[in-house]
Amino acid sequence: MRFAHISDLHLCTKHKSENIPKIKRLIQHALDNGAQHFVITGDISDNADEKDFVVFKEILKKFDLLRSDKTTIIIGNHDIFGGPQTAQDVFNFPAKCMNTNYHERVAKFIDHFKELFVNTIRLHDELYFPFAKEFKDVLLVGINSAAEYSRFKNPFASNGHVSKTQRQFLKAILTKNEFKNKVKIILTHHHFYPKNVASHSSERTMWNKIENYTMKLRGKKKLLKLFLESNVKLVLHGHSHEMKEYFREGIRFINSGGSVDNGLKDETSLFLIDVFPFEVTAEISKPSLKSQNITTQEKLVVSLAS
Ligand SMILES: [Fe+2]
Repeated sequence: MRFAHISDLHLCTKHKSENIPKIKRLIQHALDNGAQHFVITGDISDNADEKDFVVFKEILKKFDLLRSDKTTIIIGNHDIFGGPQTAQDVFNFPAKCMNTNYHERVAKFIDHFKELFVNTIRLHDELYFPFAKEFKDVLLVGINSAAEYSRFKNPFASNGHVSKTQRQFLKAILTKNEFKNKVKIILTHHHFYPKNVASHSSERTMWNKIENYTMKLRGKKKLLKLFLESNVKLVLHGHSHEMKEYFREGIRFINSGGSVDNGLKDETSLFLIDVFPFEVTAEISKPSLKSQNITTQEKLVVSLAS
């Protein structure tokens, strides 16, 4: 089965309108290349504006993808808290976050995209995360990794945390006997980069500082342990705006955070992931910039290790 993994669309009609044609082009490109299911790992919107959720729904509808069997999405921190858009916003942002009702925002997100949560497997009617979708050989399991706001632990509302309740439910889903032969794929917004992800020491110091304040997923070790014990093969995420593949404890991680909101005028890319019962292959694929005809593509990475 061929999955298209896209992340961090950061749609904002007011300040980032260029991301709208980019996502349309990327979806068309994925369809032209045989994608059977789309996975979008959070930050659909840049500023948690419901108008931008509607814009994305319309795009999905146009491609006949506003269906649970065709598209799976999870929530990102920007879908709950948004982000500062102007210099003035930087000062107002902490107060805005403090006044944001986290659970209400999650419920709104689900309500907007309810078509994509049809037939999901959940352990509690009122808790939408974690959820699972079952395919012939694959089990997709989505979690909400966005932490609640805290002046000290999450001052920019962009750090991650997966609650104990979510972890318990996650374990219950992953260890169900009926799923034991499925290839288990976790969808999370936040990344699992090891501490020293940058290659140069000065970059490393800077990265670790940024990571600690703005990007950190607290409780990574507990989640990694759970993934290992539950035979998880692949984790798809975004949050950090780059395209990257890496391994932790033998588990493959793919970041498609740079697919749309990458600071490059017209450039878009996605991971195409083929999942077979005993093998997973992944490649970065991008629509050609030179041609209006989006069927041409440039493949950058092919990795066959499973
Ligand atoms: Fe994010």
